[in-house]
Amino acid sequence: MSTKKIAIIGGDGIGPEVIREAVLMLELLRERKNLAIELWHLDLGADRFLRDGTTFPKEISDTIQSECAAVLLGAMGDPRVPDLRHARDILFGMRFGYDLYANVRPVRALCDRLVPLKGRGAKDVDMMVFRENTEGVYVGFGGQFKKGTPDEIGINEDVNTRKGVERIIVAAFEWAKTNGKKRVCMADKSNAMTYAHELWLRTFREVSARYPGIEPRHVYVDALCLFMVQDPAQFDVIVTNNLFGDIVTDLGAGLQGGLGMAASANLHAGERSRVALFEPVHGSAPPLAGKDVANPFASLLTVGMLLTHLGFEGLEQVIEREIVAALDASQCTKDVGGELGTRAASAWVRERVASELR
Ligand code: NAD
Ligand code: IPM
Ligand code: MN
Repeated sequence: MSTKKIAIIGGDGIGPEVIREAVLMLELLRERKNLAIELWHLDLGADRFLRDGTTFPKEISDTIQSECAAVLLGAMGDPRVPDLRHARDILFGMRFGYDLYANVRPVRALCDRLVPLKGRGAKDVDMMVFRENTEGVYVGFGGQFKKGTPDEIGINEDVNTRKGVERIIVAAFEWAKTNGKKRVCMADKSNAMTYAHELWLRTFREVSARYPGIEPRHVYVDALCLFMVQDPAQFDVIVTNNLFGDIVTDLGAGLQGGLGMAASANLHAGERSRVALFEPVHGSAPPLAGKDVANPFASLLTVGMLLTHLGFEGLEQVIEREIVAALDASQCTKDVGGELGTRAASAWVRERVASELR
């Protein structure tokens, strides 16, 4: 197998702290399993931007696209860059630039005590969210007029194309089919957004007819939020637009034990050989940065998703198993009920993975 190159971008805030642990895990697995991977560390993020104005140079972007199998990213966002220019250039530069239209976000609780709902446990929280990742209000169409005056206007257009809507819905159904899931739920707001989301509803009905073994369900996104909290067990696969997917996966992270537990992949689901981007769902959490308190598990679970995507079977399950062991033994950070720091919680999991693979 040819060597797979992985670009590593720690980013801002807690990003570099959790990605450091992710890299240690990758290095351990490379050594134990002889993985043909090469890590390419990139100095990109707020520090670099403030130092020399660099956000996401075209040469780097092109090299990632032509040479890398994957990118592992921590998080972007720094209060010293209030307009988040660098963050948008880098994050959206990859999501849009590489056409990574499927933002795949598992909402799965790894142990009962992490589920905050009364009478509910891990078995009730197991769904996959497919968030459209290249359209919607994220395209940046719009503008401001008469800024700073009493008459000012701010507009962001919600862009939905037939191609974009259809391919993410197809990705959700295909994933359900491959993984033996029987229910796909599409969430929109077609009762208010009668043009854009009527397109979603119609496309969903058409696509779902091609998958007779799978039960399609349409809910409005406000009701989805209610149902996810009342009874998350009713969902297997959720597909929705860019903005709603962003929001409901933070809600989902709440069901999993917090943002420190939520992993994600950004893929071109139709052509899986393209470079893909892997990142924890959480942001840069500036108040936690530099204190060794951030939960590294989302980042380690993200490494698992990355390895499975690259074809290194079974390792995602090993990482996950040892994270479950850490949670069961309270060898974890404070946000998930332990007393360890970032490094110690990660080291505990790494040592267990090392002995499992000895
Ligand atoms: P955030 O995800 O950084 O934090 C939200 C809450 O979750 C905070 O209470 C934080 O302490 C907690 N949290 C997050 N990650 C954690 C971890 N690993 N361990 C323990 N607790 C954790 O979201 P925010 O505060 O809204 O945003 C902060 C910055 O991050 C902003 O600039 C935002 O734009 C950016 N952001 C970036 C990404 C990304 O790069 N993909 C994602 C979300 C937010
Ligand atoms: C995420 C983040 C980003 C998004 C921000 C940083 C623009 O919240 O990846 O979930 O909205 O997509
Ligand atoms: Mn988000």
